[in-house]
Amino acid sequence: MKRSQLGYLMSLPELIADAQTTEERFLRQIFVRDQMAEWSKSPLLMAKADGVFYWDVNGKRYLDALSGIYTVSVGHNNRRVIEAIRKQLDTLHFSPPMHGSNPVAVQLANLIAEIAPGDLNTVKFECAGSEVTEAAIKLARQYHRLTGNASKYKIISRYQSWHGSTLGALSASGLKSRKTVNEPLAPGFLHVFPPTCYRCPFGKEYPSCEITCATLIGEVIEMEDPSTVAAVMVEPIGHTGGIIDPPPEYLPLLRKICDQNNVLLIFDEIITGMGRTGRMFAAETFGVTPDVICTAKGLSGGFVPLSAMLTRKKIADVFWGPAASNPGFVEGHTFEGSPVACAAGIAVLREILDNDLCGNARRQGDVVRAGFERLAKKYEVIGDIRGKGLLQGIEFVKDRRTKERLPDSFGLKVGRRALGNGLLCRFDPHWLAFGPALNCTSAQVAEMLALLDQSIGEVLDGAAGRHDA
Ligand SMILES: Cc1ncc(COP(=O)(O)O)c(C=O)c1O
Repeated sequence: MKRSQLGYLMSLPELIADAQTTEERFLRQIFVRDQMAEWSKSPLLMAKADGVFYWDVNGKRYLDALSGIYTVSVGHNNRRVIEAIRKQLDTLHFSPPMHGSNPVAVQLANLIAEIAPGDLNTVKFECAGSEVTEAAIKLARQYHRLTGNASKYKIISRYQSWHGSTLGALSASGLKSRKTVNEPLAPGFLHVFPPTCYRCPFGKEYPSCEITCATLIGEVIEMEDPSTVAAVMVEPIGHTGGIIDPPPEYLPLLRKICDQNNVLLIFDEIITGMGRTGRMFAAETFGVTPDVICTAKGLSGGFVPLSAMLTRKKIADVFWGPAASNPGFVEGHTFEGSPVACAAGIAVLREILDNDLCGNARRQGDVVRAGFERLAKKYEVIGDIRGKGLLQGIEFVKDRRTKERLPDSFGLKVGRRALGNGLLCRFDPHWLAFGPALNCTSAQVAEMLALLDQSIGEVLDGAAGRHDA
């Protein structure tokens, strides 16, 4: 009989030891994001971190070129953020979300309003990225309802995008590998092709293409009937499609199309927000002010879950009473605006602003770019380099001229080899990306690039039969 069946008399069993957490029999008790049977053969369990380094339970060190997953924006073990959390825990760790908010949440909302572009000055806090993209979808629908356009409900987003794993956010996402198993998804979501210039879905070339990928969105809205379309949601730089960095005209064109059709433009800045592209928001990097920005990940530096949806004044104003005809924004979660999370958010923002980490993201981004370009001179398999600031990636090809892809998921091999060599980066079958902490140094970036160089070389050597890849 399992001990839990002893019922309420049971005391908590002993914890298993750290070293045992890599054993398959114990790993069978937890789901992770991978195929468990494969992963458990060589599981990665992080035990400690500091600055841009992780150490796993076996004491192996990893250089974190991914800031966890674009989240540890101001470095692991950042004392300023830890002290802010500690102080907040001693004062107020939870406030009643159904009855109000707390000073820390209001302070952070006002700070964000100050630094956000344009009049994006009203903030809804949540915990996860998925929660704020869902909130943005709901906001768009409720906004149109409150302004007399209740028939506007459709959300247009892009293939290969990722807006989150809850069912609404997943319905907006365009990533086949993560969608199909959950279908059918919610109705009212349409997908268009992203601006993948390197492999234009329309067989065109920039700039003679005249940005078909953007103008077609206007045509889709027209075909669907503008009176049914609520919002267009895009990541300014698409991540999961392989760092899809749009041509400069793309986002301004989307802005124009949305304005012409009374459709809200939502930027999913869950990765690109909070300094990653070299400005606080990618909206500024591209010079386009959307109606809504969703941000998460780096906002709390990964110390506690925190996400935020920012909306323009003219939209927020619609939700401001009178109570008899207007319920306010109907959306919320238990942990929204947690004082501890908001204290972390304030400390992270201070750290970014006091140390000009946006500037550092631009400078280190140049170092990453120069390094990727050096690697592209050395390795023919690097077909393209894309991204901005500290969100940059490379695409692997077999033949640069034809852009034919390499067989056998070359990117996965390089990424796994990199892990073996103590480098954490984002890898996919055909691309790989860096997204280190905003306060990384040039020396650390150089070390990341050297480990990537070594890893690509070793995989190519293995492919040539010199040793196992
Ligand atoms: C662009 C983007 N949007 C939304 C999400 C969902 O965020 P979360 O995993 O915190 O729910 C992610 C997560 O990786 C993301 O990259």
